[in-house]
Amino acid sequence: MESKEIDSGVLTALAKQMRLSATLEINELVQQRTAKGYKVVHLGFGEATFPIQKDVAAAHREASNITSYLPVAGMAELRQAIAKFQSRRLKNNIQPSQVVVAPGSKPLLFALFDLLQGDVLLPRPSWVSYEPQITHAGKKIFWVETDEEDRHTITESSLQSAFSRAVEQGGNPRIMLINSPSNPTGQAFNTSDIEIISTFCKSHDITLISDEIYSDISFSEETSATPCSGSQFNVGQKILTGGLSKTYSAGGWRVGYAIFPANDFGERVQSAVLAYASECWSTASAPAQKAAAVAFDTSPEMDLYRSQVVLLHKRCTLALYHALRQCGLAVSEPKGAFYVYPSFHPYSKQLKARGIRNSQELSRWLIEECGVAALPGSAFGEDDAGPIGGRYRLRMATSYLYFRDQSERYQDGYRILDLALDANNNLKLPLLDEAIQAIQNAAAKLRLAP
Ligand SMILES: Cc1ncc(COP(=O)(O)O)c(C=O)c1O
Repeated sequence: MESKEIDSGVLTALAKQMRLSATLEINELVQQRTAKGYKVVHLGFGEATFPIQKDVAAAHREASNITSYLPVAGMAELRQAIAKFQSRRLKNNIQPSQVVVAPGSKPLLFALFDLLQGDVLLPRPSWVSYEPQITHAGKKIFWVETDEEDRHTITESSLQSAFSRAVEQGGNPRIMLINSPSNPTGQAFNTSDIEIISTFCKSHDITLISDEIYSDISFSEETSATPCSGSQFNVGQKILTGGLSKTYSAGGWRVGYAIFPANDFGERVQSAVLAYASECWSTASAPAQKAAAVAFDTSPEMDLYRSQVVLLHKRCTLALYHALRQCGLAVSEPKGAFYVYPSFHPYSKQLKARGIRNSQELSRWLIEECGVAALPGSAFGEDDAGPIGGRYRLRMATSYLYFRDQSERYQDGYRILDLALDANNNLKLPLLDEAIQAIQNAAAKLRLAP
């Protein structure tokens, strides 16, 4: 897939490296194909699409006349709701004063990479935006390698090898970012994984940023561990980020947050982030903050909505996972979020015979020849020039498999949410069926000689 360079004789060296995000690019490609009359199954965009919970939607409407700037750190009511919600989840006592709200967690991550010292240890694969954000902050990335054979987990030896490589190459690794459940793999950490990562970071004086934007979309208790739980959070150099975009299907409302530990480290970083925010985005949107305060509530209504959403994501994502396995692809079972990350390397011979050499070319072939849009692993840091063309990995998102358009989302969405908790429901997801069929056809095509 070609990326558009933002060309200019006036840009800084760092700005010249920036590209249009791969996610937006695939969206454009899908639109072009659809406009030409081709049918495309859209597994390329990770945007949650369930209808907004009704009380949350009402709070947003009612707050539309609040037009004043709210405090830089966020509205008191919202910071309190986030602190209460996360205290329950993390089994600790988060205070509202530890929370900073922003227009999405993306700008908060950008600010953190910009403000914290040192280079970054980043799992490979990782969400598309970390790499450009880190590069733009003038930092180096040192990849911590993971594998589907080992559920993309992070081991002591993968950490040690990334750290040693960084030191050998003159880097100064002082930051590590983890994202569990993960975009793009759907994998999530258990307590022993977290113990390994936390201990490693502590012993090397590394700040651990835990991107927990998908933490409520977790398929099992066993794989919902976080480094920010319990009393340990307040003794370490850890920062948690999260937001409204995924569990509550409200990405466009732009509400995210960061939680800092109640210690000297936390206070210093939080002050720097607030100063940055005050000069950059000022505050998040007022109506969206009002609505978010309802969304993060621990009320029975919101707990019900969260459990419905999780069950639907689990059902749809696991169904796609089983279909991919049956097609002979290498893929590990997702533990959360709404992604699967199959590798087509079992078909290496057939792919090479078709002239498909890496994940980008595979992604293009799938969309043009098979009507399946999925993002290439190269967008998540995979090395397409490396062994077996980035291992022919692709990210498939299931979040667009519920509704054909906005009117279907609202006409049918609440019924689908209600059906989620009924164990005997006969919920039909025709877009999921179409996706599975299209992938089966692609695998059948590959098995044939070109
Ligand atoms: C892993 C991950 N982190 C952070 C974000 C940013 O979310 P937002 O800025 O909407 O809070 C996303 C969105 O796709 C994501 O997938």
